[in-house]
Amino acid sequence: MNIGKRLEGKVAIVTGGASGIGAETARAFAAHGASVMLADVQDDLGATVVEEITGAGGTARYMQLDVADEAAWAEVVGATVEAFGALHVLGNIAGISGRDPNMVVQTSGTAGPRLEDQTLEQWNRVMEINATGVFLGTKASIPHMREAGGGSIINISSICGIVGSHANAGYHASKGAVRIFSKAAAVQYAPDKIRVNSIHPGFVDTPMTKPGHSNNEVAKARMEATPLGRFGRPEDIAMGCLYLASDEASWVTGSELVIDGGMTAN
Ligand SMILES: NC(=O)c1ccc[n+]([C@@H]2O[C@H](COP(=O)([O-])OP(=O)(O)OC[C@H]3O[C@@H](n4cnc5c(N)ncnc54)[C@H](O)[C@@H]3O)[C@@H](O)[C@H]2O)c1
Repeated sequence: MNIGKRLEGKVAIVTGGASGIGAETARAFAAHGASVMLADVQDDLGATVVEEITGAGGTARYMQLDVADEAAWAEVVGATVEAFGALHVLGNIAGISGRDPNMVVQTSGTAGPRLEDQTLEQWNRVMEINATGVFLGTKASIPHMREAGGGSIINISSICGIVGSHANAGYHASKGAVRIFSKAAAVQYAPDKIRVNSIHPGFVDTPMTKPGHSNNEVAKARMEATPLGRFGRPEDIAMGCLYLASDEASWVTGSELVIDGGMTAN
């Protein structure tokens, strides 16, 4: 099989593109020939990733997007189609853990408050970004993918969308929602050749996990639960996104791709 640039001629939106898994996915998409619109709320970081991509000869732009804002989604999707001529791929990667954003070192085994201590506001914010954001992005992109003759939507869930733990119950619920939402969308839009899949990362070293992995006990417990004996790297997940975005995955929809170093096999 001749595997050259795997996304030549495709146009992609990547949310969470300013950092971690999203930034690495945007780099991989661009390296494989896609024109990429990075969308995030961290404007400076987003612009830096775009400079890096374009400096390496790739095609990318950045737009601010709060994924929970439906009107902002319409603007980003519209601007992407205007700039690059179509929309074929959406990586819904933006997300939050629900942890206090000012926390530098996680003080317990859980990233957010225990269920009884969780406020409705905290619950709603995690759901709004992690789950509603995926719905809004999918909804805004479908008409353009249909017009393009098909597309691929990649929704980042988590192992927390498959198994429970002592971690933030709101995060688990939001990622479980992403998992089953993806299957429903996959069934509904298969006739339009729009594929929808979820990816379920285990513990990956990114700014999101830094406070947890800065607590030796938390890091040790997570490492011991990972048969392959290392934390994931953003590129481990980006490679899964690249596969699902490419035509190599043209018969793959409604699937859940677990990339977790073997954690949930245990
Ligand atoms: N790192 C892990 O171990 C891990 C494991 C499983 C799943 N995930 C999921 O992977 C995805 C990426 O996380 P990461 O680890 O790269 O973390 P990260 O913090 O490096 O990246 C998340 C990005 O999402 C952006 N974001 C947050 N709220 C937003 C909003 N309202 N609108 C737009 N962008 C917003 C952030 O600014 C950030 O750039 C998340 O959905 C996360 O839940 C991560």
